[in-house]
Amino acid sequence: MAFFKSKSGNTAGLVDLDHLPRHIAIIMDGNGRWAKKRGLPRTAGHKVGAEVFRTIATYCKDLGVDYLTVYAFSTENWKRPQDEVNTIMTLLKKYLLESIDTMAKDNIRLRFLGDLSVLSEELQELTEETNAISATLDGFQANICLNYGGRDEILRAARSFAEDCAIGTIGADALTEELFSEKLFSGGLPDPDLIIRPGGEKRVSNFLLWQCAYSEFIFTDTLWPDFKKEDLDAAIIEYQSRNRRYGGV
Ligand code: FPP
Repeated sequence: MAFFKSKSGNTAGLVDLDHLPRHIAIIMDGNGRWAKKRGLPRTAGHKVGAEVFRTIATYCKDLGVDYLTVYAFSTENWKRPQDEVNTIMTLLKKYLLESIDTMAKDNIRLRFLGDLSVLSEELQELTEETNAISATLDGFQANICLNYGGRDEILRAARSFAEDCAIGTIGADALTEELFSEKLFSGGLPDPDLIIRPGGEKRVSNFLLWQCAYSEFIFTDTLWPDFKKEDLDAAIIEYQSRNRRYGGV
């Protein structure tokens, strides 16, 4: 067995590298409160949050996790003040521009889950560019949920299946979980093994509703901008102590 202990020594135990969650998903929550506590605008929290995402994604890759999926912008987040929405979109643009220069060297693939058609033309072009680079790579994959909602994703898949039925390419009886999964934004991805929600709230907030059926959840009060590699170690260690029974005994 290979074990990993972070240099800080802060972790409660050791990460077993032979039993890593293959797919980790994170609801990056608490950016606004982090900023408010410091007397800063909420947007300052998102700026730090974006840096933390980069650090944690690189750390997942270094540990040997195959997939990291993060909730960057939900279908409901458009209700936020315009300057906050603009800041998040600007951070995404910055991240994508930087990734275009570095992802091939680092062998990091990027994929986007959500309806991108409402994003600015510039952002859509950047996502297409990173998709094209990703197609040439085979390493760690970061999935960024953008204008994503779990219910919206399920509705779209149901609609698409209904259309297939209407034109007769498939009969309703032929629908299986596997076929339905393929129609989701996440088609082809394994379900998340571990979902982490920093920020103190204990809810799913429309994130990966179909995919989380047998995920292990870890909720922590740490606000996302304060989330460190050691917090990821601690979450993985707790995950590794759980007994996943998938409805069996
Ligand atoms: C939730 O915290 C966070 C968001 C809605 C935005 C997350 C976006 C980023 C971290 C930046 C862009 C991402 C990438 C991948 C570069 P909140 O604002 O709801 O915090 P609060 O609950 O304290 O108000």
